Amino acid sequence: MQRRTFLEFLGIGSVTLAFPLGYISCNRKIGESALKKTIDFHVKGVTPNPNDTLDLAEGLQFETLIKWGDSISSEDYFGFNNDYLAFMPFDGKTDEGYLWVNHEYINPRFVSGIKSKTDPRTKLQVEQEMYNVGGSILHIKQENGQWKHIRSDKNRRVSGLTPIPINWDEPIRGTKTFQGTLGNCSGGVTPWGTILTCEENYDSCYGERIYRSEVCEPSSLGWENFYENPPEHYGWVVEVNPKTGEAQKHIALGRCAHECATVVELADGRVVVYTGDDAVDECLYKFVSSKPKSLKEGTLYVANLAKGEWVSLDYNSQPALQAEFENQTDVLVHLRRAAKIVGGTPLDRPEDIEVDPINGNVLVSLTNNFPKENYFGSILKIEEKDAAHESLSFKHDTYLAGGEETGFACPDNMAFDHAGNLWITSDISGSVANKPPFESFGNNGLYLVPRSGPQAGQVIPVASAPIDAELTGPYFSPDGKTLFLSVQHPGEKSKSLDELSSNWPEGGNNIPKPSVVCISGLLLEKVQML
Ligand code: FEO
Ligand code: CA
Ligand code: CA
Ligand code: CA
Repeated sequence: MQRRTFLEFLGIGSVTLAFPLGYISCNRKIGESALKKTIDFHVKGVTPNPNDTLDLAEGLQFETLIKWGDSISSEDYFGFNNDYLAFMPFDGKTDEGYLWVNHEYINPRFVSGIKSKTDPRTKLQVEQEMYNVGGSILHIKQENGQWKHIRSDKNRRVSGLTPIPINWDEPIRGTKTFQGTLGNCSGGVTPWGTILTCEENYDSCYGERIYRSEVCEPSSLGWENFYENPPEHYGWVVEVNPKTGEAQKHIALGRCAHECATVVELADGRVVVYTGDDAVDECLYKFVSSKPKSLKEGTLYVANLAKGEWVSLDYNSQPALQAEFENQTDVLVHLRRAAKIVGGTPLDRPEDIEVDPINGNVLVSLTNNFPKENYFGSILKIEEKDAAHESLSFKHDTYLAGGEETGFACPDNMAFDHAGNLWITSDISGSVANKPPFESFGNNGLYLVPRSGPQAGQVIPVASAPIDAELTGPYFSPDGKTLFLSVQHPGEKSKSLDELSSNWPEGGNNIPKPSVVCISGLLLEKVQML
């Protein structure tokens, strides 16, 4: 493809490329060489289907790395419903390191042996559920081309039971140490080698407080019946050091149903963190630090799309916030309310966010908005002014729309490979998958959007998930030849242990188990050798 055409595909047109090539995302650098290369072969996709298998496109294969319940050390086992993945290589290595894994939520039927959702639980059963969320730190190593999990006491769990301090000066509901992390959906990595894990649907565990009252709406899991943790202790971005297992909750990034936290490092060492609130008609945020490497000192902004502005949520400079809230902590605890007061734009459930490694555009998955009859979702493109991530103004556009025409629906996680191609996973809810209007999409999938070549811009299905599962947490190895991927909630709609909807991955009559797989093969090798 000619450079001009290629730049037009990227949305840059023939204008001067303002963004410095070799842009640093927190995962990797992509040099100018990537711009000159093209996928010159035809990728043969997988046919969407309703089968209980992980089907992959021609040129891809998978190995299962670890499953729910597998022992990881003398003390711990692998938690439930693995989601976000991030690989942190050991110093000087590319084939050995820590894999961070989020464990988003539990299914009581499998985790605590509850037959019906409404059945009462014992404290022990609730503790089992609390243990199965949070995250795992796994030592993994590639041997003879195959990734292996190495069971050792360096592996750790962070769970719903772990005490976690906050990175904030004021206590929240009486304490500066909260119990546990939960709802860990997606996340991000920092330039200083730590992981950000995001607390999304915390209300299912501890409910939510009715605004300005002492009364809380009860949670569906009822953990609050045994542990009186206030809802205000959840809904934060949590940083974990994979080397030590130390964790802290970052209050400055606000409290909401955080899907992810995508970090960009500025030239002076300060950071910008993009994060979305995954709920119907909720907002997109970014934090701009005022000091290098700080996730505490800085300003949080909310996106106003109509004006193309990032609006400050700083209490001291916003009279409208002073009229409603007591102080900055109060603003951050009630982020959704504060965002609407200053004019944050309601969006169609903002999920994962990725920064295009070649041009710096910020892509945001908007998964759907059923109450507004937006069933298929879209991907929003934010172009920061002068391609500067600290900029307070931006342009926006729809990058890709879900639907039968494009062949995908309900985009959730995204990842760019080493040649700048976009990979997307879908999150069609189990209650509507394979039913109208979603029949044509089959089970949830993984999709490749080539940046160049004969299929440039097309959305090619390259994986079809087992029954009821969602593919989540795509993350590339340092050489780009392995895609780590979570297979989350297979068999979620099982009516009972005798009526399982899926037996993946072990087959037979086995119960389904959320697992992490390593995808490799000629297709990835070809892409990375472009
Ligand atoms: Fe847990 Fe918004 O997906
Ligand atoms: Ca998600
Ligand atoms: Ca991502
Ligand atoms: Ca989702």
